[in-house]
Amino acid sequence: MLLICPHCKQQYNIEKGKIPPNVKNVKCKNCGQQFPLPSAPAASPQKPSSPLVTPGAQPVRRIGVCISKGGVGKTTTSVNLAAGLAYAGYRVLLVDTDTQGQDSFVLGVRPKGGLTELVTEELTPEEAVFKARERLWLLAGGKSLAGLKRLIDRKDFGGELTIAEALKPLEHQFDYIVVDTSPGWDPLTVNVLFYVNEVLTPVSLEIMTLQGLVEFLKSLSAIQKHRKEVALKYILPTFHDQRVKKCNNILEKIEELYGHMLCKPIRHNVHLSESPSAGQTIFEFAPGSTGAEDYRELVRKVANNDKLFR
Ligand SMILES: Nc1ncnc2c1ncn2[C@@H]1O[C@H](COP(=O)(O)OP(=O)(O)OP(=O)(O)O)[C@@H](O)[C@H]1O
Ligand SMILES: [Mg+2]
Repeated sequence: MLLICPHCKQQYNIEKGKIPPNVKNVKCKNCGQQFPLPSAPAASPQKPSSPLVTPGAQPVRRIGVCISKGGVGKTTTSVNLAAGLAYAGYRVLLVDTDTQGQDSFVLGVRPKGGLTELVTEELTPEEAVFKARERLWLLAGGKSLAGLKRLIDRKDFGGELTIAEALKPLEHQFDYIVVDTSPGWDPLTVNVLFYVNEVLTPVSLEIMTLQGLVEFLKSLSAIQKHRKEVALKYILPTFHDQRVKKCNNILEKIEELYGHMLCKPIRHNVHLSESPSAGQTIFEFAPGSTGAEDYRELVRKVANNDKLFR
C-alpha cells in the first residue's frame, strides 16, 4: 500500500498486513506530521447502494429466465442479472430450479439446502434462503429437486402452484426474484411459469436456436391460456460474435420477428466462461470485460434505469 504524507509528500510503501487493525493514524518520519490512514478498499468491486435505487419502492418483480434449449446462457444470465441488480442497490432473490444446481457453483457458495427444503419445510425460510452476497440471496437448486418433481407429480390438484405457494411468504423482502430454469420442459418449469410475471429468454446466436424459441413460445402460450399474467418480456441474444455472419443473420431475424422485446446482445466473452470456476460473478471476476459491460446494460434495461453504474 502506498502512503503519501499530505504535508511533505514523502512516499512510503507499506505492507498492508503489517498495519495493526486498530491503527487509524500514522506519523511521517520525514516531517513528523500525523495523517490518517486511507480506509481499506472494498474487497469486491461492488458499488455502494446507488442513490438512484430505492429498495422496496415498488412491488416485487418476478422474472423467469426460461427456454427449453440447453446451454444458451440461462444460468450465466440469471446469476449475473441477479448480481447486477444487487450491485445496483436492489434486494434480489435468485432461485435455482435446475437439478444441476449450477447457481451455487457459479456464486462459489454451498448452501445446506434450498428450494426443495423450503417446500418440504425441512428448513425454515431463514435457513433455506442463503445470503450469497450483499443484497443477493440464493434459494439453491440441485439433485434434491428430483424429489420435489415427484412430490409435484403426486399432487392431485394445484401441483403447478407449488413454487408460487412456497415463495409467496418471502416475496415482500425483495425487489426482484430471478428464477433460473433447467433445459427441457418439466413440472418445475411449469411451476416457474405459474409464478413469474415476466419471462426473459436467452437465445444463443452460436447455435441455431430460433427453432427452440418458437417451440418455447408455443409452450408458453399454452400456459398463458390458464395464466394471463405471465408474458414474454425480454429476448436476450447471447454468444454474439459480430465477426460471424451467421450470428448477424440470426440477430436480424429475431429483430424482424420480436424487435420490441429484443435486448442488446451479450457478446461471446471468455471471462464469462471462466468466472464460474472462480465462484465469481462477472462483475467480481472481470469488471472491465465486455461480459460485465453487457450484463450491466441488461440490468439497466430490466430495471428501466439508464443511470445505473454510470
Ligand atoms: N456470452 C458468453 N460467452 C462465452 N461463454 C459463455 C457465455 N455465456 C455463457 N457462457 C458459457 O457457456 C456455458 C453454458 O452457459 P450456461 O450454463 O449459462 O447455459 P444454460 O442455458 O444455463 O445451460 P443449461 O441448459 O445446461 O442449464 C457455460 O460454460 C458458460 O460459462
Ligand atoms: Mg443452466
